[in-house]
Amino acid sequence: MKSTQYSDKVLDHFKNPRNVGTLEGDDVTVGRVGNPVCGDLMEFYVKVKDGRIEDIKFKTFGCGSAIATASMITELAKGKTIDEAIKITRQDVADELDGLPPIKMHCSNLAADALKNAIKNYQEKQKPAPKEDAGSAEPGEILGMKNFEDRGIFHEVTDLAKFADKRTMILDSGERSMEIALHLTKHTPRVIFVTKNKQLPSGSKVEELKASTVRILYESEILEINGLNTVEKVTIHDLNEDEEYELFVDSIIILR
Ligand code: FES
Repeated sequence: MKSTQYSDKVLDHFKNPRNVGTLEGDDVTVGRVGNPVCGDLMEFYVKVKDGRIEDIKFKTFGCGSAIATASMITELAKGKTIDEAIKITRQDVADELDGLPPIKMHCSNLAADALKNAIKNYQEKQKPAPKEDAGSAEPGEILGMKNFEDRGIFHEVTDLAKFADKRTMILDSGERSMEIALHLTKHTPRVIFVTKNKQLPSGSKVEELKASTVRILYESEILEINGLNTVEKVTIHDLNEDEEYELFVDSIIILR
């Protein structure tokens, strides 16, 4: 396949994606992942009954290939046992789609990983372990934070140009953090604003933020920061779903 050529199946699933949307209910678990290459996001919702995936939906901020692979993987996974579904690889999906351009293979990771994450979350839910009250964690308690001071974590922002083209996450600490998030959009297309709140208090900054390219993660908090030498990824706790997922970022702003 040429590097830019899409198969008829990819085009069909892109133009008519199957199983788009969300699912609700106590028996639904969510899987979320971010693409380390492009920073796009994928969400999978699975409803498991008697060990089988009875229903499945997806939502993505990804490209056409991400949409096509997610659509195909929902078709592959529906009706399978969770043990069978967790084994579906990005190569299986690419094969079912009659191939993907090599430069787009990273997009197929997104769907396969989001499905695995959803199944993993389902399996976690089945364990009787008592739930931690992670909602009360303070920024100082973020795991791994001390390891990345001056290596991707910022408590002050003086030079916004430092964040040029960096995937930057900023923790909600009121109006100042919103202002910085908005200013950052002039320097990087990937700004993620993380707030524990279900809604942001009304105000002009909030309206600006909502209308901007900043992605707002409501009811969320950072549990852990990881990377080799500098910040590479964070584990996010979705307080609403009580689930965890990973996002790839280069910088995290936690104002003091
Ligand atoms: Fe981001 Fe394809 S370019 S998922």
